Amino acid sequence: MSIRKAVIPVAGYGTRFLPFTKSIPKEMLPIVDRPVIQYIVEEAVQAGIEEIVLVTGYSKRAIEDFFDYNTELEYLLDAKGKTAEKKMIRDVSDMARFIYVRQKEQLGIGHAILQAKEIMGSDPFVVISGDDVFAGRPSRLEQMVSAYEKFHSPINLSMKRDMPGDGDRYGYLKLAQELGDGISRIESIVEKPGDANRPSPYACLNCFILTPDIFPILENQAPGKGGEIWLSEAVNTLAQQRPVFAVEAKGLKYYDCGNKLEYSKAVVDFTLAREEMSEDFRDYLKSLSL
Ligand code: UTP
Repeated sequence: MSIRKAVIPVAGYGTRFLPFTKSIPKEMLPIVDRPVIQYIVEEAVQAGIEEIVLVTGYSKRAIEDFFDYNTELEYLLDAKGKTAEKKMIRDVSDMARFIYVRQKEQLGIGHAILQAKEIMGSDPFVVISGDDVFAGRPSRLEQMVSAYEKFHSPINLSMKRDMPGDGDRYGYLKLAQELGDGISRIESIVEKPGDANRPSPYACLNCFILTPDIFPILENQAPGKGGEIWLSEAVNTLAQQRPVFAVEAKGLKYYDCGNKLEYSKAVVDFTLAREEMSEDFRDYLKSLSL
């Protein structure tokens, strides 16, 4: 069965980005002229996703407004003859079927996904973090979907991460079996093991293809560290019941846009990649005496 549905949790407080996130969702941070969440939705649509459940929360209305029609603005753009701009903003709303559910308490990503249980029904689905942006093709989701089509099992996206401090930032995969070509069967995800205790070089990124059997696990799982329902813990339980695979992302650059430094790198790289600004921006960067 091909993957047509995605869940994107966007309900978190984004405390690493305060004070900005006091009233504006971090998922709406701009990279050049589009919010982070638009890059993520565009990637999902390119990979074949048609229905997107955004798990929202308090002070996240800007995200819903962004994917809705703005008929007043469209009328204004029409009156000014700005037809390309009108099409551009309408296309954003027409990319996919958007469904919104609220996470009333921010109890972690596992809890956020649980809010989409009824909408997912019996279909497999993609889980994408609302602040992770990737550059390069085939995209991470295209790579994961092609692995899913082979194994028909849950899939995690992984990347080798070995900078000092990474062991405290990511979960790492304990592998059961390496199958070659960057694909492994995983035994478990070890959350933030520290640099010295990583069970493999592969960091587990918050991006999964999951099957509906994750929901009863999440429902019955006790809150863990920080009072949160940890998705990694639920995936570990799932991995005891059926094979769960990891795909190493190939040829991609990853930006955790919930992190200020990573976000700033994304802005620089994406600006350099924009044809209309690339040359001037390159000249500007060269002129800086760094
Ligand atoms: P993060 O852990 O990066 O988000 O979750 P956060 O908790 O908002 O960030 P900090 O650490 O306080 O800065 C990744 C994605 O999951 C969503 C976030 O909105 C983000 O897009 N999320 C997180 C939820 O939807 N619900 C939660 O309870 C937690």
